[in-house]
This record gives sequence, structure tokens and C-alpha cells, in this order.
Amino acid sequence: MDVLVIGTGGREHALVRALAADAGVETVHAAPGNPGMAAQATLHEIEPMDGAAVAALAAGLGVGLVVVGPEAPLVAGVADAVRSRGVPCFGPSAEAARLEGSKAFAKDVMTAAGVPTAEARVCTTAEEVAAALDAFGPPYVVKDDGLAAGKGVVVTDDRRLATDHAAACDRVVVEEYLDGPEVSVFALCGWNEANGPTVYPLQPAQDFKRIHDGDVGPNTGGMGAYTPLTWAPPDLVDEVTRTVLRPTVDEMARRGTPFSGLLYAGLALTSRGVRVVEFNVRFGDPETQPLLALLDSPLSPLLLGAATGRLADVPPPRWKPGAAVTVVLASKGYPETSSKGDVVVGTETLAHDPAVHVIHAGTALADGHLVTAGGRVLAVTAVGSDVADAREKAYEGVATISFPGAQWRRDIAAGR
Ligand code: AMP
Ligand code: GLY
Repeated sequence: MDVLVIGTGGREHALVRALAADAGVETVHAAPGNPGMAAQATLHEIEPMDGAAVAALAAGLGVGLVVVGPEAPLVAGVADAVRSRGVPCFGPSAEAARLEGSKAFAKDVMTAAGVPTAEARVCTTAEEVAAALDAFGPPYVVKDDGLAAGKGVVVTDDRRLATDHAAACDRVVVEEYLDGPEVSVFALCGWNEANGPTVYPLQPAQDFKRIHDGDVGPNTGGMGAYTPLTWAPPDLVDEVTRTVLRPTVDEMARRGTPFSGLLYAGLALTSRGVRVVEFNVRFGDPETQPLLALLDSPLSPLLLGAATGRLADVPPPRWKPGAAVTVVLASKGYPETSSKGDVVVGTETLAHDPAVHVIHAGTALADGHLVTAGGRVLAVTAVGSDVADAREKAYEGVATISFPGAQWRRDIAAGR
């Protein structure tokens, strides 16, 4: 089978890499892709938001599976467009993608399904916002209702900042502050008429969202990640499956909009128990990178099973022992801005290291040089016997790469 991966980022490069290593996959295609993916995939120029163009490319190439990486095309219905051409597609329908596309919709589903999450109010006027901020008190949590590419959420003690953010959005969700560590639990989800939903949770991972060491500074798309979480309660995945993942996919099926694809539960382990911070409807970035580095099962049968309603016929994912750690290198100015055209050196020195690999995100080729082309430029992922070992190898890898203005956190997976 040939597979087409849609997207340009680190998550998509990690998917391409895992599919290229899968004996069941002949050729991997990526569109639009990035220079790192060119080592494992054939790249095609395409606008990923254009469902008809993606479907036409998939049909023309004769691929057996399309994997849509990012949320924006999923929310725009690109997976529906691909399926309507008769090509299996990993990724939810536009209707099911509303779990990420609208925070108010996600809250409504969670309430109906009894899924534990922060108490919240949907507000459209300044008066409603003021009343909700009074009701919950500081720290204030104000979320843009729609997709905002990681910039939609403000968590602050400053009432003025909270009010200003709300005023800048059409519709916001104001909610209770959740304390406690955050973890990401991803689940491969499939559905068919006869048997209903199938849910295969992956092992938990943790993401580092803030730009600076010690979790300070503004939120980013994610500066690093690791798996497994040896400190997490051993029954965490079972509990999350029972209280979050299953009720959510059951509720989506009950509504006639079954969810298939990857359901990402962003969770806070609060003093009062597990609470959902957010849902995403696609693989997380960068958590996907350490997770796929440790996945022992071939990836394509799982994705194809979810895409075709036959996930229950595929054995659940198995994991390699040990741990994996990913450290992201971002360009100068990130996350407020990003610097383009800075020459990146050193990635080729890691090309043959079995324990360490480089995943590209915001890179481009200019005059034969690899250069920066976005905020998160690339990421180094290492596997090791435990988190400390993988962490050491990842940072050794980071030390071999440089570009002007590179920023990376020194504390990814420290002390875990
Ligand atoms: P989201 O886009 O909903 O994941 O929010 C981005 C980040 O804001 C999360 O990863 C959390 O760190 C933080 N956040 C979101 N909601 C809350 C909440 N209710 N309480 C505390 N922090 C939150
Ligand atoms: N790691 C955060 C995200 O993918 O949204």
C-alpha cells in the first residue's frame, strides 16, 4: 500500500518516518511536506486546506490511505472530501472535528457524556465575561471558542489581560483554573455501524508548552515531550479510557457524528482528580515524536483500521521498552515571531545514529542550504533505556546542530 500524509510539520514528519519504516507500506507521499521528509517520502506541492485538490492527488496517486495531520484541514472537511472519492482517510469528519474546532462544542459534548472537565461558561458579551470572571476568580482562564493555532488561551491573574483577550474574540469560554501536572493521552479511534466505537489508547506523554525553562514565558506549540510517564498513576490510561475517551466517542456516535481518527485528551491531574483541559482531533506535536519512536507495532494497519471501520480487527498498539525524549529547536523570536532563512548546520551528523533522529518542521532549502522557515524549526528525538538515558542522548544530538538565534529548553524531561 502507498500512503499520502498531508501537512508540513514535525508531527507529519514523524508520521512519514514511521510509515516509511513499516514493511506494509511501499511508497510514502507527503504534501506539501518539508525538506526533512524528502529522505523518506515523495513530496507534492498542494494546498492542504483544499479538500478537492487533496482528494484528486490521492486518487491520482492511487494511494490506499491518506493521513491528514493538522487540525485546520480536518475542521475544514478535507477528510470528508478524500473519503467521498472512495479513498480511506485517517482523520475525523468536519462534524466530529468540532471537538477541537469549537471549545463550546467540546464542553457541550463533555457535559452530555459526564466527562470531567473545568466548569465553564460560554460568553459573547463583556457583561457575561465580567460575571464569569467574578464567578470563577483568579487565575482567570479565557479561551477563544474557535481554532487559534495555539494562541487562543490566556491564563492570567491579571483581570485586565483576561478582559482584553475576551474583547478581542467573538465568543469565548471562561472557565475554572485547573491545578496539577498536564498529561496527553492519545487514542486511536474507529467506528462501524455493527459494533460502534473502538478505542485504542496510546501510552501517556507529556509536552512542555512554555518557551522558557521552568515553565515560564508565553505558551508555544510545544518545546519538547517524552514518554512514558513513570511518575503517573499506573491506572491512568484505564481511568482516562473509562471516564473520558469512551464516553466521548460514545456520545459522538449517539449524536450521529461518530469519531474516527486520533482523539487527543489534554488532561490535568488535579487534586480533585483527572480533568480534561482540551480535546484535539489529531496527533499532538511534539508528543507524537517520542510516541512513534517507541511504537513497536507497524503504524499503517492501525491507521488503516481506524480509517476503514476495522480497528477492532487490528491488534492494539505494543510499545518498546525504555523511553523516548524529544527536544524542539525554535527560531529566533518564537513564539511572538519567527526568523526565516537562518542556515541550519549539523543535522547530517545524526543521520546514521540509531538512537537519535532529527524531525523537521519549519525548514526549507535555499541555494542548497537547509534554512529556518518557521517558529519550531526541527526536533531531536532519542530513545534510551530510561527517560534519563534518552534525555542525555537527545541533548547530545541537540549539541551537534546549530543555527543563528536557535532557542531550546534545557529542562525537557529533567528529573523524570
Ligand atoms: P488549550 O489550548 O485548551 O490546551 O490551552 C492551552 C494551555 O493553557 C493548556 O495546555 C494549559 O496549560 C492552559 N490551560 C487551558 N485551560 C486551563 C485551565 N482550565 N486551567 C489551567 N490551565 C489551563
Ligand atoms: N502538543 C500540543 C498540541 O499538539 O496541541
